[in-house]
Amino acid sequence: MSAAHAVTMTVNGRRVSANLEPRVSLADFLREQLNLTGTHLGCEHGVCGACTVIVDGSAVRACLLFAVQLEGAAVTTVEGLAPEGELTDLQRAFREHHALQCGFCTPGFLTTAHAFLQENARPTLEEVRAALSGNVCRCTGYLGIVDAVLATAQARAQR
Ligand code: FES
Ligand code: FES
Repeated sequence: MSAAHAVTMTVNGRRVSANLEPRVSLADFLREQLNLTGTHLGCEHGVCGACTVIVDGSAVRACLLFAVQLEGAAVTTVEGLAPEGELTDLQRAFREHHALQCGFCTPGFLTTAHAFLQENARPTLEEVRAALSGNVCRCTGYLGIVDAVLATAQARAQR
């Protein structure tokens, strides 16, 4: 067993500290130690996108990072996108556009799309498709997901 390392990061606006073995992934830390089980684990090797979280503004795969790498970082999980009990406009658009069925992939799509819309507020259809191309959904056929992201961008542009 390797020695534990101290790490402090901000998760959904809350400062958290822990002593962790270096092998503990960010996904396992979030799920098992912080009980933030909205971060889902599918492939566990960077392919499916289910584990996507936002670190310092960028969408990243929590299964590919060791938690001890996150010293000083700001992490946002799907639970932190909106205040408790509320939904973001993007989350509401997912509901309105039938962008989920079983919901397993949904946290990863939401975090990916959330970060993408921060970087590109007026995306084209092709840009949305490209941004989401690293996330796998086995249910929806993707059309509803793409529609939800585009509709969110369009609604924001009209405000
Ligand atoms: S669980 Fe991380 S990319 Fe699939
Ligand atoms: S809604 Fe089931 S995997 Fe995407």
